Amino acid sequence: MASILESWKKTPLGVAILRLWLGGTWIYGGWVKATDPGFLDQASPNYIGAQLTGFIGHSPISFLLRHMIEHAQLMGWAIMLSEFAIGIAVLAGVAMQLAIIGGASISLILWLCVTWSVKPYFLGSDTAYFAMWVALFFLVRSAHGRRKRDGLIPNFKDRREVMGMVGVAAAATIATLAGGSLKKKTPEATPGSEIVKLATFPVGSTMQFKASNGSPAILFRTKSGVYAYSAVCTHQGCTVSYDALGHSMRCPCHGATFDSTTGKVLSGPAPTPLPKVSVAIKGDAIVAL
Ligand code: FES
Repeated sequence: MASILESWKKTPLGVAILRLWLGGTWIYGGWVKATDPGFLDQASPNYIGAQLTGFIGHSPISFLLRHMIEHAQLMGWAIMLSEFAIGIAVLAGVAMQLAIIGGASISLILWLCVTWSVKPYFLGSDTAYFAMWVALFFLVRSAHGRRKRDGLIPNFKDRREVMGMVGVAAAATIATLAGGSLKKKTPEATPGSEIVKLATFPVGSTMQFKASNGSPAILFRTKSGVYAYSAVCTHQGCTVSYDALGHSMRCPCHGATFDSTTGKVLSGPAPTPLPKVSVAIKGDAIVAL
């Protein structure tokens, strides 16, 4: 605790504001993902793999995203842990320069994946976050020149610095697990059971759910009613996701796309359409049949 307070002592106001804002935002970002029931659930539209799939085709690093999708769950854990660790390290003043480089890298990747096609660029927040991280790096680096501590490469012979990093890693792990224990599950249907209430699923909505056989499926609601397709790709069984920009269902593994109205193959190696899953409106809810 004493070293945390020390890291804030005589901190110029500009540096303090950047540390508070960036550290707090990164912890909040980790918490939002850790408590999101769908972030690591293949049957959810918020699934990290589904998000990465949605970025393909609009990102200049699509070739990297295709590899990341194969290890989407692992990527999800790595993202949550690093966001918590970076935020905590910046607030606690532990291995600051390294944490700041981590924060800048995440902002850069998010810009290349998520907000690359946002026009004009200033409407996407990732470029602003990247600039804030770079500014904080140089501010902290010039202070380091005077303090001779907390260098770019942590000093593993310094017991206090090592203990600080262990503390950050432990806090990030606890926060990730604590968030996970609070999240609810993706809707799981059994024949006759309710998938979602109509009031919370307006016309034009799409959601992933677990069909009664336990496999992922995608539910659609249009003006003329509701329908659902299996989300298991007919090529090699990867989970397809709805791509809102392309109005199709896309497989992350080898790029097959399916018509979101008929389930038919639009492109890629999938040999047959996606099978229909039976759903219907009953009373105020959509149910599995
Ligand atoms: S598993 Fe879907 S395209 Fe290969």
